[in-house]
Amino acid sequence: MIPAPLITALREARHVLVFTGAGVSAESGIATFRDALTGLWERFDPAALATADAFRRDPALVWGWYEWRRMQVLQAQPNPAHQAIAALAQHVAKLTLVTQNVDDLHERAGSREVIHLHGSLHQPRCFACARTPGEPLGMPDEPEGGRRLEPPHCLHCGGKLRPGVVWFGESLPTQALNAAFDAAAECDVLISIGTSGVVYPAAEVPERAWRAGAVLVHINLQPVGNHAEREYLLRGAAAEQLPALLHAAFAD
Ligand code: OAD
Repeated sequence: MIPAPLITALREARHVLVFTGAGVSAESGIATFRDALTGLWERFDPAALATADAFRRDPALVWGWYEWRRMQVLQAQPNPAHQAIAALAQHVAKLTLVTQNVDDLHERAGSREVIHLHGSLHQPRCFACARTPGEPLGMPDEPEGGRRLEPPHCLHCGGKLRPGVVWFGESLPTQALNAAFDAAAECDVLISIGTSGVVYPAAEVPERAWRAGAVLVHINLQPVGNHAEREYLLRGAAAEQLPALLHAAFAD
């Protein structure tokens, strides 16, 4: 049952901020990070794979692991949650989409100007000179994936390419973070989908929106959130809950 005040808030909102995490892509077959048994950080050690030191120590291990993840994304399709977010943009005057995800499933569902706080699997850059390779990477050489793979060399300086994602200990892209905080300060409703909300500064986005007076709704399999005033939880799978929310708000 979707609370009536939430439906009204969404109908009347001028600016909706959608904030997504790994759970929005779970039903496309992309693993989350912290879900028991299936989460990536339950099975792999982030210190060995997701830091600049790890890349310095063993670039082939790190590059191979991210190429394995990129290959999974290339083979996946957007699910009804990604599609519902793209459709929501047709119903509200302004929609800002901020994601922590490094996949491109929002774009492939039709969302435009997606703000990627944690970078992208699809935009590698040089570890030495930070320049981008100029043309997109093809399908990974290793169809089985998950194995060591030497990173390609930069065309400009000969350095090693690194995945274009934010690693532990690195700063988020300034422009993206500022755009997300600006939207949080201004939005009327923030829909937070499929995130555990434990990784900062990204997790500040919904907190800031709520403090600025926005209505906050979490869509999650787990009981996340603080159960405060103006805060709602739609518990369940994003691919079911989000289309249901849109239907309740905009079907007639
Ligand atoms: P997490 O793995 O921490 O959390 C995923 C959330 O999605 C959990 O709260 C799940 O309950 C929920 N969930 C799983 N399946 C779902 C479904 N089908 N429908 C709705 N909810 C579902 O992932 P994030 O919060 O995205 O950072 O993690 C944040 C950051 O931590 C990531 O961006 C990544 C990681 O380290 C970087 O790579 C920098």
